[in-house]
Amino acid sequence: MDIQFIKADKLKEKPTGDLPFGTLFTDYMFTMDYTEGKGWHDARIEPYGPISLDPACMVLHYAQEIFEGTKAYKTPDGHVQLFRANDNLARLNRSADRLCIPRIDTDFVLDALKQLVEIEKDWIPTDPGTSLYIRPFIFATDPYIGVRVSHTYKFLIILCPVGAYYKDGLKPTMMHIERVYARTVVGGTGEAKCGGNYAGSLAATEKAHEAGYEETLWLDGATRSHIEEVGSCNVMFKIDGKFVTPKLTGTILPGITRMSIIELLKSWGETVEERIIGIDEFVDLYHQGKVEEVFGMGTAAVVSPIGKLNYEGEDMVFNNDEIGPYAQKIYDTLCGIQRGTEPDPFGWVIPVC
Ligand code: COI
Repeated sequence: MDIQFIKADKLKEKPTGDLPFGTLFTDYMFTMDYTEGKGWHDARIEPYGPISLDPACMVLHYAQEIFEGTKAYKTPDGHVQLFRANDNLARLNRSADRLCIPRIDTDFVLDALKQLVEIEKDWIPTDPGTSLYIRPFIFATDPYIGVRVSHTYKFLIILCPVGAYYKDGLKPTMMHIERVYARTVVGGTGEAKCGGNYAGSLAATEKAHEAGYEETLWLDGATRSHIEEVGSCNVMFKIDGKFVTPKLTGTILPGITRMSIIELLKSWGETVEERIIGIDEFVDLYHQGKVEEVFGMGTAAVVSPIGKLNYEGEDMVFNNDEIGPYAQKIYDTLCGIQRGTEPDPFGWVIPVC
């Protein structure tokens, strides 16, 4: 399939100064449409702008939608590169299977993404902690009010120059461990990246905000007895010299950053356990002084130290509420690989131009 290029009449001013997360968008977006019997068609890179939808469009009613998050970076010598975007597109297809959405051709979309990012390369910020966030997403477009799988879809990729996800950057965050609301259960959509998971999490996030915390740390939905993930990222603990992260049991997002950090730690000779972490066990380990560091890991969040976790009225404080040595070292190494200032022995980086 060819990709048509539709030129914008006028380009926007590029932002200067501190970048927010998720509010500024570049000049162009990639779009293609799906029709049953025809497949994906009409691939185009066109000016970024509003899209017109029928009010009965199925995604607006039943949330048949999936998305991804990945980033582009500029190296010190001006080259542009992606980080494991092929893994994001493979995950998009796994989410597509769960939400009964047609798969994409990942090689074709990776190539389209490279073309889009190359066109928009002047939008890639270079200040520390900044990047060009890439949001691919697919949603159901049939105008139909009954509940069934849609026969038509739209796929878009939009780009967003971003700073840190949490407003204070690498400063440790405070999370609230949720006991009332549940995010998902085995057999649900927890491991798919679909908008519905995030919509369902908002009440708990609001509750966390009202209590002065940034986000929610979820327990498993069925028993509320073990730790799963943070609202926007996976979580890692350093306990008694070892790294421990909740194992993938079908309810949490199989994070690309999570997977990269596990590989990175193992390459440093560290022990990493992917296992069920009971909340009672964790609170005990905390009281024994064995929890050394806690941090979130995600594309948007990168490595976000967690300084406090509130559980049942108690604030557990880690590493004196300061960024820990490992969170800092992982952040520096990962960002170095992504920006081309550190070698990439893992083959994670994908050159664009
Ligand atoms: C990402 O880390 O890319 C995500 O999609 C998380 C989102 C909640 C910002």
